[in-house]
Amino acid sequence: MAFISLHKVSYTYMGRQKAAVREISLKLDQAEKIAVTGLNGSGKSTLAKLILGLLKPQSGNITLDGRPVGKYSLVEIGEKIGYVLQNPNQMLFNTSVYNEVAFGLKWKGKSKKEIDYLCKKYLDLFELWDLRAELPFNLSEGQKQLVALSAVLALQPRFLILDEPTKSIDTFRKGRLKDILQEIWRRGTGIMVISHDHDFIAKFDDRRIHMAGGEVVEDAG
Ligand SMILES: Nc1ncnc2c1ncn2[C@@H]1O[C@H](COP(=O)(O)OP(=O)(O)OP(=O)(O)O)[C@@H](O)[C@H]1O
Ligand SMILES: [Mg+2]
Repeated sequence: MAFISLHKVSYTYMGRQKAAVREISLKLDQAEKIAVTGLNGSGKSTLAKLILGLLKPQSGNITLDGRPVGKYSLVEIGEKIGYVLQNPNQMLFNTSVYNEVAFGLKWKGKSKKEIDYLCKKYLDLFELWDLRAELPFNLSEGQKQLVALSAVLALQPRFLILDEPTKSIDTFRKGRLKDILQEIWRRGTGIMVISHDHDFIAKFDDRRIHMAGGEVVEDAG
């Protein structure tokens, strides 16, 4: 059974004539490494938001672990799939960088000591520990993106969806991120990376899904 399964899924934004995603059928396994490519406006982010239950399809159906996505709460989906949206501003809502990473860990019932350890470990990955007391709102776009990534990685999800994770980050941290993702994939985390960065996704295109005009026009392993 596929971990994520879409059957003829379509979605049209309110007030739009044309569907952003049209009749997409896909099966994604839990341990896969998938790159999603396509031009601006081809429907990549919409596809991710549909899988994550942030948008509800007008037709077709999506299942996660064998159960319709609509039957899960957003928190339950978040427990199965870690994700970073294209706009990190939509993800950050805590009063410090530290709390941004600690938030999900607290939710999972980790002890104060474990939270401290994991916050340091995951913020250190991108050399963000020194910024731990800062208000996320005041960070640069790249730093915000990395804080959102640290927070999601700290939860050690079974599957990750990253929408343009390298958009604003420097070459050094991009290399670091590539290595980390490789490593967690090797340990069993499935990864779907949406990206225009061909260098970066060269490591993630064991399977490449290419979108155009809201449809999957190529799905090659
Ligand atoms: N909130 C919205 N309201 C109305 N239309 C939207 C909205 N978000 C996206 N769209 C439209 O849906 C289509 C697909 O957009 P989507 O953001 O999924 O593309 P994308 O492939 O992620 O593009 P990019 O590479 O620029 O991130 C586009 O035509 C876009 O204009
Ligand atoms: Mg997008």
